[in-house]
Formats: sequence, C-alpha cells, structure tokens
Amino acid sequence: MTGAAGFVGSHLAESLLAAGHDVVAVDSFTDYYDPAEKERNAAAFEVVRLDLATAELDLGGVDGVFHLAGRPGVRSFGGVFESYLRDNLLATQRVFEQAAEAGVRVVFASSSSVYGDAETYPTPEDAHALPVSPYGLTKLGCEHLARVYARAGGLDAVVLRYFTVYGPRQRPDMFMRRVCDRLLDGATFELYGDGNQSRSFTYVGDAVAATVAAMERAEPGSLYNVGGGEEATINDAIGRLERIAGHSLDVRRTEAARGDVTRTRADVSRIGAELGWRPSTSLDEGLAGMWMWASGTVAAA
Ligand code: UGA
Repeated sequence: MTGAAGFVGSHLAESLLAAGHDVVAVDSFTDYYDPAEKERNAAAFEVVRLDLATAELDLGGVDGVFHLAGRPGVRSFGGVFESYLRDNLLATQRVFEQAAEAGVRVVFASSSSVYGDAETYPTPEDAHALPVSPYGLTKLGCEHLARVYARAGGLDAVVLRYFTVYGPRQRPDMFMRRVCDRLLDGATFELYGDGNQSRSFTYVGDAVAATVAAMERAEPGSLYNVGGGEEATINDAIGRLERIAGHSLDVRRTEAARGDVTRTRADVSRIGAELGWRPSTSLDEGLAGMWMWASGTVAAA
C-alpha cells in the first residue's frame, strides 16, 4: 500500500491488518502537511519510507497494490504544480509500469475533482470529466495512464473516485478538520465563498470498505464513484458541528477558492450493483466520530 501514513491509507492499512493480511506499507512523508501527524496516523504499523518517483518497487510476493499516495488538495494553483506532476503523474506512472510487469492488480485512489463542475447530478462515472483544478487534472491524467497501461501492458487497474472523505485523521487542510480545530481552539475559521457549495461527504470507514471490495471483487478496468449518501452544504455541515460541540464557530468569509467546485453529488448505483457497496454511515454519525477524535487529540496534546 502506498500513502499508508495518510488519512485514508492509515485506516485502510489498519483494516487489512485486522483482517489478517500482510501489508507492506510505504509512504514518503512529504511535507504537504506536518509529517509528525502522519507518524501518529501510522503509529500502529511499520512504514517503509520510499519516494515512488525514484524508488524501484519490489512487487515479488505481492497480491495487489493499493495506490493511495499522491499530493492531495484541489487548491493547487501556482508554483506547486511541479509537485503535483511528480507526486501524482510521475509516481503513478512508475507504480503502473512496475505492477503491469509483475502482473499485480492496482486499486488507484482518484478523486471526484476529475468531474469539475459536473454536467449532471447525481454524477455517474460516464459523465464528462472536466477538472477545474490542476490537482484534478493530474488525477484524471493518472486515470488515463491506467487505461494506457491496461491496453499496452496488460495492467489490471481499478479506479476509485473518492468524494470528499472525512472522519478521524482527516488532513489538517480540509474543511471539516479545520472547523473542528477552530471550534476547539476558538480561533477564526475562514470560509471560502458563501458556504452554499455542497459535497457528497464520504465517511472514511465507508471509503475503506469500498476500497477493499474493489481489490477483492471488481472486474479489471472498472471505474467507480465512492461517495457518501447525503449531500450537504458547507453551511449545513458547520451548523451540525456547532451543535455537536455545543457552541458556535467564529466564521470569517473570504473569497471563493480557485479550483473549488460548487457541488458534488455521487451516483453510486454502479458500485452498488457490481460490488454490493453502499455508504452506511450517516453524516451525523460520521461527524460525531470525527468530533470525538478531534477533541480527544487536542485533549491529549
Ligand atoms: C477534497 C480533498 O481535499 C481532495 O484531496 C479530494 O480529492 C477531493 O475532496 C475530492 O472529493 O475529490 P474538497 O471537496 O475541496 O477536496 O474538500 P475540503 O477541503 O474538505 O473542502 C470542502 C469545501 O470547504 C470547499 O468548498 C472549500 O472551499 C471549503 N473550505 C475548505 C473552506 O471554506 N475553508 C477551509 O478552510 C477549507
């Protein structure tokens, strides 16, 4: 598994270990956010430090690769683009090359951001992919690479488009995490835009279950949306977290962020029909889990 010390990766690694699998966990601990936080994410298992853009992967004895490593975040304009090219396109090309050669399945973590401002809602997988952020473009590029290597090199790849995953260990640059942190430290939360933008927020435990199902049961070349069942606006999610915390958030409105889409709503009928997966955690349950984790982390610190 690549990206094993990250938010989704660390949950997936723990879940596979608990199910009795052997997991070779790799991560390069980039400084996109504090690597100490990634060390805490991965405290329960060994992680091999390895940069996929340069390292040779030894896939001998491996049954399947979960490729979750990448540079995340849709707010990706400016000089950082080179890092997105390296950590997403280049790293993924190398993983695909080596997996194709070894004859090993790859489940690839793509993103709802490939849709940009989608042409229909709920958005099915065959809607046009027109990303509006450099990050989304690199994720779509990786999806194309999967097809290129499937056709030319026999790669067995399954692509998952995760929709705004949240829950314990969420990255510190993401919306819900920032709301929790600001509710806990009393500082001001910066709202990008008017807060009417909405997301198919997906609980991390549901995302993990979909990812395991994809490795175990998907047909080669499959592509699935992995999205939560409830679409909510940013304002709605803030209100729910304020109610859980028992006090209000200090909000300051700023400019809408470049690269942000106004809405995501996943059509998950394909993954439901083919893999029997559906999101099972309600937004209120998920937010309660996230709050419990965030408040416990602050208390421990
Ligand atoms: C998230 C992840 O960051 C991406 O890595 C992932 O690929 C993507 O989901 C996806 O679903 O494909 P995003 O939906 O922008 O991207 O998730 P958040 O960072 O949680 O932001 C949600 C909304 O809150 C956005 O509209 C954003 O502008 C807003 N926001 C975020 C704020 O108003 N203030 C903040 O400080 C952070």
